[in-house]
Amino acid sequence: MDIEEVAFETRFFVDGDWRKAPRTFAVKSPIDGRVLAEIADCGAEEAKSAADAAVAAFEKWRKTTAYDRAAILRRWYELIIRDAEKIARSITLEMGKPIAEARGEVRYAAGFVEWYAEEAKRLYGETIPSQFSHKRLLAIPQPVGPVYGVTPWNFPAAMVTRKAAPALAAGCTFILKPAEQSPLTALLLAQLWAEAGGPPGTLAVLPALDPVPVTEVMMRDERIRKITFTGSTEVGRLLYRQAADTIKRVSLELGGHAPFIIFDDADVEKAVAAALAAKFRNGGQVCVAANRLYVYPKVKEAFAEAYAEAVRKLKVGNPLEEDTQIGPLVDEAVFEKVTTHVRDALSRGARLVFGGESGGGLYFKPTVLLDVHPQSRIMREETFGPVAPIVSCESDAEVIRLANATSYGLAAYFWTRDLKRAFTVAEELEYGIIGVNDGVPSTPQAPFGGVKFSGIGREGGHWGIEEFLDIKYVSIALT
Ligand code: SIN
Repeated sequence: MDIEEVAFETRFFVDGDWRKAPRTFAVKSPIDGRVLAEIADCGAEEAKSAADAAVAAFEKWRKTTAYDRAAILRRWYELIIRDAEKIARSITLEMGKPIAEARGEVRYAAGFVEWYAEEAKRLYGETIPSQFSHKRLLAIPQPVGPVYGVTPWNFPAAMVTRKAAPALAAGCTFILKPAEQSPLTALLLAQLWAEAGGPPGTLAVLPALDPVPVTEVMMRDERIRKITFTGSTEVGRLLYRQAADTIKRVSLELGGHAPFIIFDDADVEKAVAAALAAKFRNGGQVCVAANRLYVYPKVKEAFAEAYAEAVRKLKVGNPLEEDTQIGPLVDEAVFEKVTTHVRDALSRGARLVFGGESGGGLYFKPTVLLDVHPQSRIMREETFGPVAPIVSCESDAEVIRLANATSYGLAAYFWTRDLKRAFTVAEELEYGIIGVNDGVPSTPQAPFGGVKFSGIGREGGHWGIEEFLDIKYVSIALT
């Protein structure tokens, strides 16, 4: 399937309608810079119309039965599976994810829709015993209201469904502003929502080159009751402040700086495979990507050697080719940051084991660095690229201290055969997600989210839908 074979939607989606905006912007492929589509560039006017439609639709949607909402979500899931190949191509074309991985993302994205189609029917309230015989006390869950969601480019399908599916299942309406680098997949998902029977106004998609005008309208509108955002800590902080003015509920899934620890009792072979996935999935452009690898001296040489060998074998190339494992980085800004982190580490004495340079265009060669100085930027800042810095550590106490010495707290990984160590280290690490002998813990039914500067709230599982619910307390006196 070539670019020409994916017919991209170029209008924005509001109130069940596909509309043209007065302005457009070009969505370019990081593979070769080709323009994939000129699409609607939404601003304040388009945002106001989406907010009005979402508010009006909420009045009806919140009164539908959980079974009705579940049926539409289930149909949406089936349509995503039906169009999986088209969606995967769209992901690859617009942000460069290798096609095999993009297919995996589509299954992951569909998994959230399937899960929340089921979860819609399990929104139980509670009855509370009263000290008075004539009183009955109830706590009932209700949808928070219209929601504004902002999604990133690194998972153009899964981050949309991880937010929109629980919101819609809860009875909220959802206005989405997808990342400017990857709006085409979001528009495809909206087409399928409409085909599944999603009523007008329940889902809107507003692509915008500049997110500020759309976001300002949403953040000022007191009828929009929640903001859910995945992206940088810097932008998350700004949205958190803005949400205060209208007391919106807030879910923030922000940056990470995951440590990956290989203890002296680790199964080195398995740790190598897991560290490869944890670091190089999506070319390292993942919030939960391993950003720094700590290895005990006893296994360091064996690990570093096997890891470098595995990295050397990674196939870098056109992400549309079936066996490609590393595609281009999404844009110049990401490429620049990766390059700077590598240069900075080398200038502070790190040893280059493999890679370390551009592969032409937006490609950066998968890189392994050894003995990286702790003050290097890569050891402190999120890299979002295919670079693995390996450092030594001597004791459990030291490695826990080093792992926690960051303002981020999204994901951490470690490798051990010792059950006691598995529990104690998991409990000591200040992170929202811990992979014990597991390099890819994310899954729709489990809680995803961070502590400290990595965010607020959880996505996935029953926790994910609770973010879109208010609890109403009803006290009934039987007089
Ligand atoms: C992310 O990068 O935010 C998502 C990663 C995942 O769901 O595993």
